[in-house]
Amino acid sequence: MARSAYCPEVGPGPVGRALGAAIVADVQRGRLTAGERLPGSRTLATRLSIARGTVTSVLETLVAEGWLERRASQGTFVCGSLPIGPLPAAEHGGGLGFALHPGPESRRLHTPRDVRFALVGGKPDLRLLPLADLARAYGRVLRGRGRRLVDYGPPGGTDRLKRSLANWLADTRGIRPVVGGILVTRGSQQALYLCARAVLRPGDRVAVEALGYPPAWEAMRSMGAELVPIAVDDDGMAVESIPDDVRAVYLTPHHQYPTGASLSAERRLRLLTWAAKNRVAIFEDDYDHEYHYDGPPRLPLAAHDKAGVVVSLGTLSKAFAPGLRLGWVVASPEFIALLVRWRTVMDRQGDQVVEHAVAELLDDGTLARHLRRTLQTYRERRDVLMALVAAKLPGLTVLPRPGGLALWCAAEGTDVDAWAERCLAAGVYFETASSYTLDRSAQPFVRLGFAGHTPAELTEAVGILADCYEALPTNRNNV
Ligand SMILES: Cc1ncc(COP(=O)(O)O)c(C=O)c1O
Repeated sequence: MARSAYCPEVGPGPVGRALGAAIVADVQRGRLTAGERLPGSRTLATRLSIARGTVTSVLETLVAEGWLERRASQGTFVCGSLPIGPLPAAEHGGGLGFALHPGPESRRLHTPRDVRFALVGGKPDLRLLPLADLARAYGRVLRGRGRRLVDYGPPGGTDRLKRSLANWLADTRGIRPVVGGILVTRGSQQALYLCARAVLRPGDRVAVEALGYPPAWEAMRSMGAELVPIAVDDDGMAVESIPDDVRAVYLTPHHQYPTGASLSAERRLRLLTWAAKNRVAIFEDDYDHEYHYDGPPRLPLAAHDKAGVVVSLGTLSKAFAPGLRLGWVVASPEFIALLVRWRTVMDRQGDQVVEHAVAELLDDGTLARHLRRTLQTYRERRDVLMALVAAKLPGLTVLPRPGGLALWCAAEGTDVDAWAERCLAAGVYFETASSYTLDRSAQPFVRLGFAGHTPAELTEAVGILADCYEALPTNRNNV
């Protein structure tokens, strides 16, 4: 048998891995052909100036993987059955042979980094979190039953947290979930997605608030639903305009997102009566129930629903911390059971350690104390920001709202998007109405979040807002 002159070109990196890759590459591009004999390990080692043991081990691996084969007392050969030849390269730049679904619309998901002041409406001040309490609860939970909790667990959430949540919801919202009527999710976004999955078919129509909450819209759209925009005003969603042919209504009645308006009692009753008659699902997103400054929070629609049409969604993203990803759905046990089945094919279950730790904070009053403290703090910050806007930004009118974590301000005649851009360049971020319209069209409104900053920070931020406002071209009637 002719002596093989083959010598692989070994690239950089750990020599064993590089030698294996070089031999495989030579097989793939036809430099080594099917059935060809390789030099012996001693020869290869000498040619490459590497240890023979390394060569032997690489050859063994390639035999095990099916690239090479050993023939008794003959040596090592390229496997005879390999379909040799270069792997086909893609003709037009690569990729799949079919078009991917374009996926959800991509609006800005995160506040831009490196801004000095992010006046976002949706985030609490995480500097105020009782992190030491959370750490203690984690520690207790992990030491106590950690091994069990890092195992697979119930996809609908731990009984421990479901019990605590049920008590808390009864105390704070007048909602009394029946056994099996509560699902713990990773934030309300997962809850929205699961609800949309369970209820909507392609072509179904869903009434949504416009202005509204795009991440919820995208969950509905991802099921092929058609969104039916319903106007909002100072009394919340104009529910009297909802057509009868929708399958579901998604709304934020407590503090309408993003305007902060509370759904009036008349509209609440009208909506519940209409939904009960038409058997339409109401997705009630009760995302910031706690932060209500003018009197006690209003009870959610779910607390008044006698027809079983309201699906109540909640979250600890504002009340505690968004990154814990804790939300829930309260609905009939049959509906929850369906959501649980969908959840098992999605991410199977939540984080049981987090669920137990947060249940401890709910039960021992830590969360309630945190909420009392932050309610007071945010009320003060709201008042400070309102006063600052009145004093420094005469072009803005703050619309009076009973709660939430942001001011909703009219800025008639102002190109608010141009203003926001200037402010961002100067280190202050806030959102304008175009972030909340279905077609991204501009409207002369801005949302100024106050929860995340101290009065001193707010003062500095508003100074920047005012400077940028002054610098806008005088003809601002381009909205
Ligand atoms: C209207 C609305 N719903 C829900 C949420 C909370 O979402 P998650 O629980 O997924 O963090 C937010 C947060 O910004 C919101 O603004």
